Amino acid sequence: MSTSRMPEVLRRTGGREIKGIVFDEATIQRRVDELGAEITAAYPDGDLLVLGLLKGSFLFLADLVRRIERPLQVDFLVASSYGSGTQSSGNVRLVYDPETDIEGKHILLVEDIIDTGKTLQRLVQLLSARRPRSMAICTLLDKHLAPEPPKELRFVGFDCPPAFVVGYGLDHAENYRHLPYIVDLA
Ligand code: IMP
Ligand code: MG
Repeated sequence: MSTSRMPEVLRRTGGREIKGIVFDEATIQRRVDELGAEITAAYPDGDLLVLGLLKGSFLFLADLVRRIERPLQVDFLVASSYGSGTQSSGNVRLVYDPETDIEGKHILLVEDIIDTGKTLQRLVQLLSARRPRSMAICTLLDKHLAPEPPKELRFVGFDCPPAFVVGYGLDHAENYRHLPYIVDLA
């Protein structure tokens, strides 16, 4: 897809060249509408707590919760994946742990992208120990690289091509998160 309508200054943000638009703003917003409707229908009763995994989910979560037409609460998690190398190690530590009570509630974990799935796998284990009523994952993008997708994965925005994508919350070295569309980097 063309980047011709993108301001020149954005094409040069963050030191890497933007290759092209992978999901444009209208496409993302349409899909978020659908996900909101799916989630509304999936939780007819009980307390719902939407937990956003920071920072990548911040825009997606903000748009998504406005389309869920039922009572809910919002909180966030900050997880740090540590270990050697740049690949996700699966050693996950909670840097910010939600204050909100989890026991007895429907937990909807909102993530920007599933790559290897290791971060989420550990988080689900950690949170399941707190006895929620149910646990489900909603991810905007799925790269389908996880050897075993988590069984809690219930809502997926888009299948993502095997590229490094940024925008709409996703970053490269903390840049590009503010773009209202998703692009891939050269
Ligand atoms: P996982 O544990 O390998 O699934 O790592 C998922 C995390 O890696 C995401 O929450 C992102 O922060 C980051 N990540 C993976 N792929 C991309 C990408 O293409 N662009 C930006 N961040 C990514
Ligand atoms: Mg990141």
